[in-house]
Amino acid sequence: MSLIQVENVSKIYVTTSGIFKRKRKEIVALSNVNLEINSGEIFCPIGPNGAGKTTLIKLLSTLALPNTGRIIIDGYCTLKDSKKVQKKIGVLYGGERGLYWRITARDNLEYFGNLYEIPPRILKKRIDDLLDLVDMTERQNDKIETFSKGMKQRIHIARCLLHDPDILFLDEPTLGLDVEASHDLRKMIRNLKECGKTIILTSHYMNEIEELADRIALIFKGEIKEVTTVNDFRNKVEKMNLEDAYISVLKGKRKGSG
Ligand SMILES: Nc1ncnc2c1ncn2[C@@H]1O[C@H](COP(=O)(O)OP(=O)(O)OP(=O)(O)O)[C@@H](O)[C@H]1O
Ligand SMILES: [Mg+2]
Repeated sequence: MSLIQVENVSKIYVTTSGIFKRKRKEIVALSNVNLEINSGEIFCPIGPNGAGKTTLIKLLSTLALPNTGRIIIDGYCTLKDSKKVQKKIGVLYGGERGLYWRITARDNLEYFGNLYEIPPRILKKRIDDLLDLVDMTERQNDKIETFSKGMKQRIHIARCLLHDPDILFLDEPTLGLDVEASHDLRKMIRNLKECGKTIILTSHYMNEIEELADRIALIFKGEIKEVTTVNDFRNKVEKMNLEDAYISVLKGKRKGSG
């Protein structure tokens, strides 16, 4: 049985607009999604802005609840057993939130480690190892506010690995990183896969997906259009690289031919 099962999941956001006559608007972010993600694979949802990738990650990581359907992660339902699911997963949120800027990198990791109730002796060693993994040992006693974007991202990665989760959700982890930092991060993702982690990764950089993905899921307007390997996706439209294949498939979808 697969590690993650997504069964008939839909997510509808309800918003209102207008000041006097408030109008209710429903946005279908995901529509009847079915997916199976295997243990140890790097699984990459791809699709244009607004397709539903982040929503899918929010639902998988218990940050949001589906309107219909259910998600089972390692035997636990995200709705009924969210605490058990949370122990198994690490989430790298996009953007700059999620760290305390006025305290040092090490203090941040200690703070989050305590939230996860990791015993102090284990936590100390784990923080040492993670700082080494993300190459931030030398800057561990500096405040987050003094870090560049890439350095903050490295500490984010250390934070999401603190409780040694089996499953990692990485939503656009290399967004805004320099060439070297994103290269290092891709290497780190490969290492994490070799350590047996299951990784769900989104990115708009097709070279990254091409390099890392075991399987991709094309999401378009909240629907999963296909789940396949990079090779099969490329070969189907006879393109040399994933970016060309992706653009050609998207153009077809926009014209309504697929
Ligand atoms: N909190 C929210 N309230 C209302 N609508 C939302 C909310 N979050 C997302 N949406 C809508 O849901 C749809 C899917 O958004 P989502 O963020 O999942 O897309 P995405 O594939 O991650 O896009 P991107 O590539 O730009 O990150 C979009 O139409 C978006 O406007
Ligand atoms: Mg997104």
